[in-house]
Amino acid sequence: MKKVYIETMGCQMNKSDTERMLGMLSYFGYEETKNPEQADLLIVNTCSIRQLSEDKAFSQLGVWGKWKQSKPALKIGIAGCVAQQKAKSIFKRAPYVDFVLGTHKIYALPEIIEKISKGEKICECTETNTTEDEQAVKYDIKRVKGVNAWIPITEGCNNFCTYCIVPYTRGRERSRLPETIIKEAKDALNTGFKEITLLGQNVDSYGKDFKDRNYRLADLLRELNAIEGKFRIRFVTSYPTDITDELIKTVVELDKVCEYFHIPMQSGSSEVLKAMNRRYDRETYAGIVAKVREMVPDVTITSDFIAGFPGETEEQFQQTLSAIDEFELDYSNLAAYSPREKTVAAKWVDKFIPEDIKNERFQRLNKKVQENCLKSNLKYVGREMEVLIENFYDHKGKMINTGKTRNFKTVHIPCDKDLTGEFVNVKITGTKTWYLQGDFT
Ligand code: SAH
Ligand code: SF4
Ligand code: F3S
Repeated sequence: MKKVYIETMGCQMNKSDTERMLGMLSYFGYEETKNPEQADLLIVNTCSIRQLSEDKAFSQLGVWGKWKQSKPALKIGIAGCVAQQKAKSIFKRAPYVDFVLGTHKIYALPEIIEKISKGEKICECTETNTTEDEQAVKYDIKRVKGVNAWIPITEGCNNFCTYCIVPYTRGRERSRLPETIIKEAKDALNTGFKEITLLGQNVDSYGKDFKDRNYRLADLLRELNAIEGKFRIRFVTSYPTDITDELIKTVVELDKVCEYFHIPMQSGSSEVLKAMNRRYDRETYAGIVAKVREMVPDVTITSDFIAGFPGETEEQFQQTLSAIDEFELDYSNLAAYSPREKTVAAKWVDKFIPEDIKNERFQRLNKKVQENCLKSNLKYVGREMEVLIENFYDHKGKMINTGKTRNFKTVHIPCDKDLTGEFVNVKITGTKTWYLQGDFT
């Protein structure tokens, strides 16, 4: 068998695409290797959310390009968001690349492999306005072993936030068919996965594009919840204003759907939000978070924020700091603004914030996120919680099991037995900044 190595960068969407590519390739005589030096085929599955991610992709290609000099039969491909965005131009910058595979057509991979084996160079980056459901059901998915299976339910995005490249790399929003999603969920559960996470740039706008049916995220959750067996269901990412009352009610009603919402706010300032083309202001976001907290007991709410968006004043930045406190956000992913090709904000060069100020704001945000994470963890000390064990390893000389509560808190449990994949009840005995400490009751 030939060997393939895939280096995956970026978000869960890419991780899911990698699993699909590995699945497909296994039908065509390739098995995965974890050692790139042993591979006959190398693929880098790329992210272009920030300049740094894009640079990482090209430096990876550079390293592999050198290997090709002593191993001419080696084939090198680039997939993912950088591939979609840069397309053919990649051959100029990295002439040793054999194929460029965009995000819309990953199921073209087998055909591409055949062509490159004959010495052709292929670029498949045509945008489509359909999903690849029909192709997807033909192949198994080679999921990374673990307890959590990721299932994309929508692809693309229609929002065009002024900083964001995703609508250009993933195209317009397309919902995958419920039938395909339910099949993938059942397959994953049958092979031992204990948690299903539904993925989408705006998971809560799922189904808006269906012309032949009235079927939304809440309906999908209901159908998935009805599958037999003990498992959990999560969904990310929620666009704030697409969270409907029905969705919140459904989360409360359904026993397998967990008390967790990822609702990126991006900035605490209404003016900055407007410049970002987010379709809500601070007050609207506040109202949504308050409603979710009121209706869903013990809910964890996490967010994303950007530091140093073009034109952001110190005062506006401070509104982001205060938002994290005021809305008691349990955790937030942070990024310093990075200008991206084609996006609207990238043209506001005269409003760019100097790197040192952006970084300094990032650090202050980071401190705030840490404080709040600890504060929110403290609420659970002394409580009994159900944990799904995800991992077993040596932590500073002691064997521990780590896992997640329903509300997405990480828990460390000292125990010599590997309990990966089991649901256990533990008493929360203490907390660190990023995780709770638990013991069996
Ligand atoms: N669809 C999700 C976000 C997907 S992108 C949403 O709308 O919330 C993931 C995160 O990357 C974003 O939430 C944002 O915080 C960050 N991001 C996107 N573009 C960025 C840029 N140009 N610079 C810095 N961070 C960026
Ligand atoms: Fe990007 Fe905005 Fe779409 Fe999220 S909603 S993927 S931030 S354009
Ligand atoms: Fe990156 Fe593309 Fe995901 S830009 S964050 S890999 S959708």
